[in-house]
Amino acid sequence: MRALLWVLPVALLGLTRIPPPLLDNGVARTPPMGWNSWNHFGCDVSAQLIKETADAMAANGLRDAGYQYVVIDDCWQVARDARGRLVADTVRFPGGMKPLADYVHARGLRFGLYTDAGRRTCQGRPGTYGSEDLDARTFAEWGVDYVKEDWCYAEGLDAPTQYAKFRDALARAGRPIVFSICEWGSAAPWEWGPATGNLWRTTTDIDDTWNSMLSLLDISGQHASAARPGAWNDPDMLEVGNGGMTDDEYRAHFSLWALMAAPLIAGNDVRTMTPATRDILTNREVIAVDQDSLGVQGTLVSERTPELQVWMKPLTDGGRAVVLLNRSALQSVVAASWWRLRISGPARVRDLWAHAELGTFTNRFSATVPAHGVVMVRVTPAHVP
Ligand code: GLA
Repeated sequence: MRALLWVLPVALLGLTRIPPPLLDNGVARTPPMGWNSWNHFGCDVSAQLIKETADAMAANGLRDAGYQYVVIDDCWQVARDARGRLVADTVRFPGGMKPLADYVHARGLRFGLYTDAGRRTCQGRPGTYGSEDLDARTFAEWGVDYVKEDWCYAEGLDAPTQYAKFRDALARAGRPIVFSICEWGSAAPWEWGPATGNLWRTTTDIDDTWNSMLSLLDISGQHASAARPGAWNDPDMLEVGNGGMTDDEYRAHFSLWALMAAPLIAGNDVRTMTPATRDILTNREVIAVDQDSLGVQGTLVSERTPELQVWMKPLTDGGRAVVLLNRSALQSVVAASWWRLRISGPARVRDLWAHAELGTFTNRFSATVPAHGVVMVRVTPAHVP
């Protein structure tokens, strides 16, 4: 009898998916928000650019909308010094990184840097392999709050092992630092990422095109069960405002990233953006969906055809964020049934792009969705069970 009492719970456990232990470094409890230099500037980074970007973010509403981290991607580093410490390009970053971090902090923002878990960065700069503790200490001394670690020049290395090494080095360095794993989904990071970093790329690099954006949605959307507070799937940084998509397409991109509880890392030139780009990036109702404290990544819940889809993210107040996605080149009607949204009874529907209450609906909601576009709503049941 006693043996049986043991067997039953153990057998039940076998049927349940037990999540891996979570990295508990106290940061990124909601998806990180910020800006990164790569998508727009590539290697053309400098202290001047970072200062102007931080100033712009403080002045144009981005910071106040929640964008915090100002992250310099590849190409800031040129060598290691006699003691093995990373050296920043002295022409582009005169004075090094510490004063720049101070400048960013003084604007009420946080500072991030890029490195690579392999022997070199993707652009051939010194990598962190073999210098994990020294680099983590150096970053902490400079006042770094966010590190993105890439995976170039890592032949023969094991991703879970190398990223765990840097996680432990960051913990020893003693400064709370968001740890962004960037190995492009190559070794199933959704399995070990939650125990290792705060976010992990699920895909190869984004391009500023509708098809690229959708392909990353389809990949990252498959790993929703791995996401939770402190640990996020990363379908790559935003292209909003970089010019390769229409504003409708960028609204879709931003809505879908929010629905996926993805990191919202702007990748445009925030010093010169158009009012339309600014309105997309600072839409507080859409950002609130991304940042919802329940921390659940939304999923595809129905499709009438592969091109007309309904995506749903449960929210902490019992409501649902819903994206009606039209992947086709023709304006179309898309409907979401309450059954698919797992709610019942009357529910209020609010349009998160029109900023308007649409009324109370029972059973379903439908809308005309522009070609290559979305309608995004919040559905709040009158009676939350
Ligand atoms: C890789 C990463 C990108 C960017 C570049 C920099 O491609 O996936 O996000 O960091 O390297 O070289």
